Order: sequence, then structure tokens, then C-alpha cells
Amino acid sequence: MHLAFLGPPGAGKGTQAKLLAKELRIPHLSTGDMLRAAVKARTPLGLEAEGTMKAGKLVPDALVLGLLRERLQEPDAHPGCLLDGFPRTVAQAESLRDLVPLERVIYFEIPESELLPRLTERRSCPTCGAIYNLRSHPPKAPGKCDREGSELVQRPDDREEAVRTRLAVYHRETAPVLDYYRKSGLLRTLRADGSVEDVLAGLRALLP
Ligand code: AP5
Repeated sequence: MHLAFLGPPGAGKGTQAKLLAKELRIPHLSTGDMLRAAVKARTPLGLEAEGTMKAGKLVPDALVLGLLRERLQEPDAHPGCLLDGFPRTVAQAESLRDLVPLERVIYFEIPESELLPRLTERRSCPTCGAIYNLRSHPPKAPGKCDREGSELVQRPDDREEAVRTRLAVYHRETAPVLDYYRKSGLLRTLRADGSVEDVLAGLRALLP
């Protein structure tokens, strides 16, 4: 199965993608995670993307497409995959048509007032990528990953100023992608403001 998750920053795409990909036994391909890994490894691509990401802006289409194309060639992605955070522009959606046969695109709908607190209170594990929230999903021991014991970190683009830029970029660049998939009949809307368990149940009901 080939799926894509769309929605504003902080809507819960990553949280749900980790759970659903495990259930469906398909790889979770997050372009944000791929870019953050490149930044951490100090690759030429990571160095090019770092400033743009920190400011909350989109990395150039060609750069992200190159990363994704390479990842899709790995054997585990051949039977299916869950794309999280891609496509983000209409140009990316058009390129994706030649790469994978998408069966469903899920739009995470959530009131905008929920997003800023979710993002500024998000923490993640640098070792396993687990996502926490200081209020809604705190770790058992303060500041430490439940699984790895690693010190949790805050993403540089979760500072309030960068979050506001990300939201503006979302409305300008990514909202038109919703119309693109609405026209093709692939889009389904998911209410994303319930509990993690309720959102997951709603998500399962929208799968092909
Ligand atoms: P990316 O990593 O894709 O970030 P994003 O789309 O902005 O989404 P987030 O990861 O911030 O949020 P999410 O929806 O996954 O929410 P989460 O589950 O973590 O992109 C980062 C950057 O990389 C971009 O700005 C850009 O620079 C670059 N980039 C990436 N892809 C690109 C592309 N295709 N083209 C160009 N540039 C690209 O949840 C958020 C918080 O809420 C967490 O604390 C979580 O615990 C909590 N939470 C989740 N669900 C619930 C719930 N149901 N109830 C209460 N709290 C919840």
C-alpha cells in the first residue's frame, strides 16, 4: 500500500505514521527525518538544508526529491510505503506521480490554535526518534527517552518564531496540494484533534 500524510506542522503526522507503518509493515518515509539525519551527519546536502530548515522554510524541491528517489529504490520500499511530509508543493506532487502509485492521501485536519503549544512542547529522542510532548505525552523520567534513556532534544525549528514561519509556508505552499489530490479523488480528511488512540482509529477507517 502507498499512502501519504498531509497536514500542518504539529498535526500529529509523525506520531501516527510511526504507529500505522508498524501495523501495516511498510516503511515510514519522513522527508523531515531524512533531512535531519543529513544535517546531523554533516553531509553536503545536510549543510545546504540546515539554515533553511532552522528558519522554518522549505528546502528546494530538487534536493528533497533526490533524497526520496534514492530511498524509494531500497527493496523494503518496493511493496509500499507511508510518506510523511511529502509532497509539500504541487511540483513535488507532480513528480511523485512517476515515482509511486499512491492509493490514499490523508489530510490531518486540526484547529490552528492547537499547533503552537503542541510544537513548542514537543521533545524527541535523538537515538530512536520517539516523539514526546511535555503536556500530552511526557516521558516517564523527566527529559529522558523511555526506551533509550537518551536525553530528549527540542527541534531548532520548534521555536515560536520558526513555527509561525512554518505555518505561513504551509498555507502558501502546501495547502494547494490538498486541492490537487481532492481533484484526483485520492484525498480523505482525518480529524486530528482527538487522542492519539482516537486519531489512529479514524485513520484506519480511511484506508483503502
Ligand atoms: P517535517 O519534519 O516534515 O515537519 P512538519 O511537517 O512541520 O511536521 P512536524 O514534524 O512538525 O509535525 P507532525 O505533524 O509530524 O506532528 P508530531 O506527530 O511530531 O519538516 C521539517 C522541515 O524539513 C520543514 O520545515 C522543511 O524545512 C523540511 N522539509 C521536510 N519535508 C520537506 C519537503 N517535502 N519539501 C521541502 N522541505 C521539506 O506531533 C507534534 C506534537 O504533538 C508532539 O509533541 C506529539 O507528541 C504531539 N501530539 C501528536 N498527536 C497528538 C494528539 N493526538 N494529541 C495530543 N498531542 C499530540
